[in-house]
Amino acid sequence: MKPAMWYLIMIVVGFFYVYLTAVQYIRGQEANQPPTSYQPHYDPQYYDENLISSSNTLDFEYHNYAKMTDFVRSMSATYPNLTALYSIGKSVQGRELWVMVVSASPYEHIVGQPNVKYVANMHGNEAVGREMLLHLIEYLTKSYTTDDYVRWLLDNTRIHIMPSMNPDGFEVAKEGVCRGGQGRYNARGFDLNRNFPDYFKQNNKRNQAETEAVKQWVSKIQFVLSANLHGGALVASYPFDNSPNTTLDWSQLLHILNTTQGKDGREEVDYRSVFQQFTSTPSLTPDEDVFRHIAGVYSFNHASMHLGLPCKPGAHSFSNGTTNGAAWYPLTGGMQDYNYVWHGCMDVTIELSCCKYPTADQLPKFWADNKKALVRYLAEVHRGVRGFVKDEQGRPVEGASIKIRGRDVGFQTTKYGEYWRVLLPGRYTIEVYAGGFDPREEDFTVVETNPTLLNLTLYRAADRHEAQRRPSYVGGPNQQQGAAPQSGISGFLSSISSQISNVFSIFG
Ligand SMILES: *[C@@H]1O[C@H](CO)[C@@H](O)[C@H](O)[C@H]1NC(C)=O
Ligand SMILES: *[C@@H]1O[C@H](CO)[C@@H](O)[C@H](O)[C@H]1NC(C)=O
Ligand SMILES: *[C@@H]1O[C@H](CO)[C@@H](O)[C@H](O)[C@H]1NC(C)=O
Ligand SMILES: *[C@@H]1O[C@H](CO)[C@@H](O)[C@H](O)[C@H]1NC(C)=O
Ligand SMILES: *[C@@H]1O[C@H](CO)[C@@H](O)[C@H](O)[C@H]1NC(C)=O
Ligand SMILES: [Zn+2]
Repeated sequence: MKPAMWYLIMIVVGFFYVYLTAVQYIRGQEANQPPTSYQPHYDPQYYDENLISSSNTLDFEYHNYAKMTDFVRSMSATYPNLTALYSIGKSVQGRELWVMVVSASPYEHIVGQPNVKYVANMHGNEAVGREMLLHLIEYLTKSYTTDDYVRWLLDNTRIHIMPSMNPDGFEVAKEGVCRGGQGRYNARGFDLNRNFPDYFKQNNKRNQAETEAVKQWVSKIQFVLSANLHGGALVASYPFDNSPNTTLDWSQLLHILNTTQGKDGREEVDYRSVFQQFTSTPSLTPDEDVFRHIAGVYSFNHASMHLGLPCKPGAHSFSNGTTNGAAWYPLTGGMQDYNYVWHGCMDVTIELSCCKYPTADQLPKFWADNKKALVRYLAEVHRGVRGFVKDEQGRPVEGASIKIRGRDVGFQTTKYGEYWRVLLPGRYTIEVYAGGFDPREEDFTVVETNPTLLNLTLYRAADRHEAQRRPSYVGGPNQQQGAAPQSGISGFLSSISSQISNVFSIFG
């Protein structure tokens, strides 16, 4: 071949290489790759003996990625019986998204035991939550042998703690900067709390690596209760964050008003009154009582959140330190609505500090203010109903759809047939559907003191007549033999259950 031909080939190949690289960059490299299937790899490197320190009392300083990584590794080395460290994936810039399990059984899921989680620092410049979770890890592990409450919690709960969902953003955020957007976004400039699929509105934001990792994570572990920690206000804000009725896009509105702070003004409390008319409509879930309660558990166990004081004169104040998310202001693509609608996980957004990134000398006070609330909130997972769905042979039924009647946001059983639902004391009806089985419903009562244990047996659809003759659940009061079970999930969010199965197949 002539040299000219070689040059031409090289130019063409080179052009395509550059083109594809550029396309991949623009699309977001990680988002574009099929996500590697999530497997908590408990890497032996995390048990480096050298990391074990006899008195690893955590300092009240901010911990950048390197220091945070040292800390969680050293904790897993020091407390191998109470902690397990894993990563759910990497940030855009390649930092690990660390999760520390704190539990009496950190490596093994005890069948029947609920999983809960905390996620902090998804806005990289909202830094207090990140430090609170590091202190929480230390507090829980060190208190296990000395504090009966903590021991009970760790004996009965698997707690997953992610101190930073946006480690890249944190690295460029500045200590002492209370407002603004530097470090808020991930390394590609995306707001991670606007990056999730949305039930009410189409979300066209390009899927980011950090979001994808979290979606894989929450699809593999059935979290029952969780919170995500933010800064810029002092309030516990619960779903829905979005509502079907907003007519004006929030970011558009801010753009019109030409503010230079933030993309969407979540924490721009000064402007709140201007927008009040657009934001005052609550968007309530069918679990409003539960959300209001668990948000209150945080705010009333917090030193001052429940007082509902405004961050500064004229700023928004919240009765009892809690609010419905959309009543404050609606947003599309938030993580808490996603957790709840897609996975039935009760997630609350907790704004811990008026200043997003206060100076480190204030951290001891923040820890003192939040410690009890952080612990008590997680214990709320031990109320409501739980149990197993099994077939006639006593084998677990995986992926059975469950809902509590009147609460049409459903959830699914795990591969062990487990389910959990946080409910306040009262009488309820549970409805269970699984392919190939007759639908099942059952009345039950929830009391204040302990969760109701309720196992449900499903009968093959072919055995219908047989099934209706025998008393399938002996313990249930008001069992109506032969009553026609509902043919499917119905109600004001009736489309959710079918959408969820579609979404599962799309997003894995
Ligand atoms: C962990 O548990 C094992 C078995 O109970 C025990 O032998 C070991 O000493 C424990 N290790 C630590 C560091 O507590
Ligand atoms: C605000 O308006 C000024 C003048 O119209 C313009 O130069 C500036 O870019 C605007 N800022 C934003 C954030 O839109
Ligand atoms: C939306 O608007 C309809 C009709 O105006 C109203 O009935 C409904 O309650 C509203 N929903 C929310 C969540 O605000
Ligand atoms: C605030 O909390 C009190 C005490 O729990 C309760 O009675 C009241 O209804 C709450 N108010 C709001 C608006 O949530
Ligand atoms: C419910 O099922 C679980 C798992 O099979 C079993 O361990 C438990 O004893 C059952 N509880 C009741 C009340 O039947
Ligand atoms: Zn935030």
